[in-house]
Amino acid sequence: MKKTVRDSEVTITELMIPSYANFGGKVHGGILLSLMDKVAFVCASKFSQAYCVTVAVEGVEFLTPVEVGELVSLKASVNYVGRTTMIVGIRVEALLPQSGVVKHTNSCYFTMAAKDDQGNLQEVPELILQNELQLRRFCEGKAIRRLSLQKREYLKGNLKDVNLQDQLAMTINERVVVSLS
Ligand SMILES: CC(C)(COP(=O)(O)OP(=O)(O)OC[C@H]1O[C@@H](n2cnc3c(N)ncnc32)[C@H](O)[C@@H]1OP(=O)(O)O)[C@@H](O)C(=O)NCCC(=O)NCCS
Repeated sequence: MKKTVRDSEVTITELMIPSYANFGGKVHGGILLSLMDKVAFVCASKFSQAYCVTVAVEGVEFLTPVEVGELVSLKASVNYVGRTTMIVGIRVEALLPQSGVVKHTNSCYFTMAAKDDQGNLQEVPELILQNELQLRRFCEGKAIRRLSLQKREYLKGNLKDVNLQDQLAMTINERVVVSLS
């Protein structure tokens, strides 16, 4: 089966209400993360016509705060497909309805896996790329996938193989006091 990027596109919009605020009066990062996860789920499920789960998240950075009273839109599409997983690109924008000003708050990438009724990984459709933007996003997705897998290997315990001397060398010029007992 083959599907277009457009087949995957989905947008969700939510008003930022006061109960979403943190102690500083801005919207909690966790609220936005939850919305991102939801839109990624819908996008991946719509594309694959399967139940999807989140595997990995790349590129989440909160560089511009989102305010209470803003209308947040999350636009998602499948940018890249592997065999059983998809990378969903999400663009987050916040609109202040009174002014009409829209700010781009974040773009991030959710890797989603498709599962069958038994919970096993399931093959996803091939992706039809119809313009240069979709082609560029696919290539970016391929690079993100490579980085994601490298990070996984690294976090699995790369530093276990680094000896004590090298670990101590890594603390030079860092803001730590090493006081091993
Ligand atoms: C993600 C998961 C499917 C990987 O299982 P695995 O046995 O390690 O599988 P594999 O190494 O064979 O990889 C399977 C696919 O996952 C991808 N993958 C695995 N780890 C990844 C990572 N860290 N980042 C991105 N993709 C990853 C592989 O590239 C592969 O993709 P492809 O089929 O599209 O080529 C498995 O760990 C899982 O089911 N996790 C739970 C996910 C979940 O339930 N999430 C809900 C939130 S709790």
